[in-house]
Amino acid sequence: MPAGLLTVAYITSSILFILSLSGLSNQETARKGNLYGIIGMLLAVLATTAYAAGAFEGQAPIDLSQGGYTLLAGAMIPGALIGGMMASRVAMTSMPELVAVLHSFVGLAAVLVGISSYMAPGIPVPAGEATIHEIEIFLDVFIGAITFTGSVIAYGKLRGSISGKPLTLPGRHLLNLAMVLACLYLGYAFIGQPDHGGIRELVIMTVIAGVIGVHMVVAIGGADMPVVVSMLNSYSGWAAAAAGFMLKNDLLIVTGALVGSSGAILSYIMCAAMNRSFISVILGGFGTGGGGSSSSAAATVEGSVTEFSVEDTSELLTEAKSVVIVPGYGMAVAQAQHSLASVVKLLRDKKIEVRFAIHPVAGRLPGHMNVLLAEANVPYDIVLEMDEINDDFPDTDAVLVIGANDIVNPSALDDPSSPIAGMPVLEVWKSKTVVVMKRGMSSGYAGVENPLFFRDNTRMLFGDAKKNVDAILGKLNG
Ligand code: TAP
Repeated sequence: MPAGLLTVAYITSSILFILSLSGLSNQETARKGNLYGIIGMLLAVLATTAYAAGAFEGQAPIDLSQGGYTLLAGAMIPGALIGGMMASRVAMTSMPELVAVLHSFVGLAAVLVGISSYMAPGIPVPAGEATIHEIEIFLDVFIGAITFTGSVIAYGKLRGSISGKPLTLPGRHLLNLAMVLACLYLGYAFIGQPDHGGIRELVIMTVIAGVIGVHMVVAIGGADMPVVVSMLNSYSGWAAAAAGFMLKNDLLIVTGALVGSSGAILSYIMCAAMNRSFISVILGGFGTGGGGSSSSAAATVEGSVTEFSVEDTSELLTEAKSVVIVPGYGMAVAQAQHSLASVVKLLRDKKIEVRFAIHPVAGRLPGHMNVLLAEANVPYDIVLEMDEINDDFPDTDAVLVIGANDIVNPSALDDPSSPIAGMPVLEVWKSKTVVVMKRGMSSGYAGVENPLFFRDNTRMLFGDAKKNVDAILGKLNG
């Protein structure tokens, strides 16, 4: 095949990856985005395999005839099967754990490919480029080792097998600095050694970088873990980009840069929505207590709550002209979205305006609520982001808060001592009546009390969200 075909395949894959990212940024186009990504990756794997088999003119083939195909198939087929099985079984709430494991694989792959490409370079490097090539290998292994161990710790923390509390050793930033300086020195000693003589420096640096990865992530608190996962996603992208330079593979460079930059942007957006400092999170809790916790200094709330029944709620909803529903983590736990979609349909049939208000960090992962509502076939045009709907609450008759807590907490705006002070929230209390559906009075993720429950226009409908929504559905139907 002409060599130009490989370039065409790589450019097509890159375009498909960009289309995939842009598709995934909107729920209406997310499925299409996913499909573009799958096609792009298939094309990339096929083109790279054909390249390795020497199918393109004028390129030095990697000899796959000596059992190489068996090895390739032996890695790819079980890998695809295990990956497919893991992804199809994972619960939505465990998605961040799966993502953390996958990042650890990218990190480990970068380390292994980097070391093997140093020991047995598959692609001949011109003499003048040897130093640059060695820097690429060193960087690839450094970022890969941090990503690998950091992701393993993130996985353990998210699963609860490692304590979620931030481990903040005294002088930890100095320790990190000392380790980075040691790696720099090893890099200096590594470059220019003849006959793979730098392997000792490379391996020692790998161990130190692995310790940096562990140390950075253990210092980060539970509340910041999802930001860490998205940041490790970004690191894994940069490791892949460094591997692309090392292997002279343009597609890997482009893909790595796309993953690296989109992960960094997502981390930034999440930090802004949770009112956390991006720098403090990436530096492993630098200058902070490391995330929200129940030990925080928030003011305790006093007063009494007004309870509401299923009948009262159904009546309120049918008498309202405009209803806004605020879903949160509790809706995901209860899996109430399907019954809720039926309630919404009934209300809309009665010509009542019903809309959803989605906070950027509702639930436990970006887009959590959007995915659940899309799964329940809620029309996209009634699902609005916080910025689109926050000004409409004063004109809303009834707000139904389903399993949400922190994202509707007024103390974020009016209590400067609150650990979530400054976090933008959905201002539901400005509507005529708010019904909060939750099982009891316990706090949300940030461990902060919520004065919303004690407001005059708030009604509490206690119980499991699914059971209560089913009961409301029964009343509306009956
Ligand atoms: P939360 O503040 O965590 O509140 C969820 C509420 O749901 C709890 O107070 C709980 O109260 C209730 N609940 C649990 N199970 C329920 C069930 N079966 N039926 C009814 N209610 C149930 O959730 P939120 O308002 O969605 O806010 C998200 C929080 O997670 C924010 O603090 C955010 O910063 C944090 N966070 C978000 C992300 C992303 S990216 N989305 C990532 C990490 C952290 P009861 O126990 O009384 O029922």
